[in-house]
Amino acid sequence: MTPEVVVVGQIARDLVLRVADAPAAGTAAAVRSRDEVLGGKGANQAVGVAQLGVPVALLAVVGDDRAGHDLLAHAAADGIDVSRSVVREHARSALIVNVVDDHGQWRYLEDIPDDVLVTEDDVLAAAGLLRGASSVVLQLQQPAATVRTAARIAREGGARVVLDGVPADEDLLACADILRADAHEAEIFTGQPVGNVAEGVKAGVMLLAHGLDLAVLEVAGHGNVFVSRAGYEFLPHDDADVVDTTGAGDALVATLTCALTRGQELRTAARAAVAAAASTTEHAGGRPRLNPGILESRKQP
Ligand SMILES: Nc1ncnc2c1ncn2[C@@H]1O[C@H](COP(=O)(O)OP(=O)(O)O)[C@@H](O)[C@H]1O
Ligand SMILES: [Mg+2]
Repeated sequence: MTPEVVVVGQIARDLVLRVADAPAAGTAAAVRSRDEVLGGKGANQAVGVAQLGVPVALLAVVGDDRAGHDLLAHAAADGIDVSRSVVREHARSALIVNVVDDHGQWRYLEDIPDDVLVTEDDVLAAAGLLRGASSVVLQLQQPAATVRTAARIAREGGARVVLDGVPADEDLLACADILRADAHEAEIFTGQPVGNVAEGVKAGVMLLAHGLDLAVLEVAGHGNVFVSRAGYEFLPHDDADVVDTTGAGDALVATLTCALTRGQELRTAARAAVAAAASTTEHAGGRPRLNPGILESRKQP
């Protein structure tokens, strides 16, 4: 099956530990629950797309260790095409430890070796995959040259190009259709705080000036603003019981991409996307638990 969506990004072992309170230096905390799952932002996005029933491929890099082979096997079992993912010789697979406390605060310990980043050569080797996709999601914690080349190839193939994170430079936006960033990432890139809707709209309009069709920005603590040429819409957080926000942005990106790929209007797609994000905050860890019904059930009020 030709993948409709291709995700380029990180894959990692994800170890999620829940504690009542994170220990201060020189003290210990009992771990209340422990999950070891397929993780990394690229993989989490691909899992979300697969859960929504849209054929998806992941271009990511693991090491040639046992963990790496296990990660690819898990992704394949999740329904993700990993045939173009890379097993890098002599590399160590990435590991992320997420310590989540009872106050919904996370702390990440990240071991992401440089040689498990996706290289430009990895992208060139998978050019046919990118050209054949309807949408390509680029998770921006990858080298600038990798992302630039992937965006160019995807665009040449006519794919919708979706960016998640902090772009390396403004030129990248000219090769993309959508940028989604959390409030911190949006501030890093635009130099403007995004603490209220007006600031979010201002940052979004700045981003659109570089050639995007849509900017989706988190307004810290409040919700997400969708800024397009037709105007903007702010969707506030509703009353989710937040356990851990990890992966909520990835679920948002996955769902927005699937909804638009399946021809939904932006208004409908945006509602499905924030609902998916909210559902992902309700459990610890970044692996989403999306219900395919979310693509159909979010009718406009
Ligand atoms: N109370 C809440 N209800 C719903 N969504 C929330 C809430 N708090 C945070 N979020 C969402 O969590 C997401 C976090 O995004 P991000 O920082 O990119 O996470 P990640 O990169 O781990 O996926 C944002 O889209 C934000 O709107
Ligand atoms: Mg994010």
